[in-house]
Amino acid sequence: MSNQSKCTLILALDLETREEALAMLARLGDSLEWVKVGLQLFTAYGPDFVREIADKGYKVFLDLKLHDIPNTVAKAVQSISNMPVQLLTLHACGGGEMLEWANKARNDHAPDLNLLAVTVLTSMNEAQLRSLNVQATPETQVIHLADITLKAGIQGLVCSSLELDPLRARFGTEPIIVTPGIRPAGSAADEQKRIMTPAAAAAAGSSYIVVGRPILKANDPAAAAHAIQAELA
Ligand code: C5P
Repeated sequence: MSNQSKCTLILALDLETREEALAMLARLGDSLEWVKVGLQLFTAYGPDFVREIADKGYKVFLDLKLHDIPNTVAKAVQSISNMPVQLLTLHACGGGEMLEWANKARNDHAPDLNLLAVTVLTSMNEAQLRSLNVQATPETQVIHLADITLKAGIQGLVCSSLELDPLRARFGTEPIIVTPGIRPAGSAADEQKRIMTPAAAAAAGSSYIVVGRPILKANDPAAAAHAIQAELA
């Protein structure tokens, strides 16, 4: 169990258009500090959209899950250093060398940017790992990838909240740990397979929880977001 006290909500802004995204942010009001821009909006609107969100005062988590040869990922990190982004994801499965090159690019060009390595996607369970010929359990695989990530000097991890206890026990309070796959009690799991409530994830040592559909699809998104923030407080 972690003694990190604060766990912060990040909204996964997984919507189709810029207009829908801006309307959702307007509905959510001031209490939201962090927004995750993922592949859907970034591939549609690019860096200008990231700047637009940052100009509104939000901190941006750019979730591009980079995974390529070390040089290509390092160059992408260098390009992203020109954007107002505080958190950026890459896939731990790219391996130690890719992670080291990415971290060097971060140190050289964007020392205020925190890199997060995605371990095992929260939509994957043991059966899906088997189908990729990975014989480990999700937990063992997450710990293995976390070892590689933190040895490469990367600042944090993305994992399911079910792995928070073993990760905090092994690596302590220092790494940033971001957990998607969060579902308030009573909300639909969608395709997420390894899920936890906001309060349980906070208690287990999550630094940030990422929540999308339970807020975006709620009848009253602002009330849903406030309820989650109240659980975290
Ligand atoms: O709608 P929902 O709350 O399931 O959204 C979760 C968000 O977190 C999505 O944007 C998804 O891409 C992201 N994510 C995830 N699992 C990971 C890493 C990121 O679900 N391991």
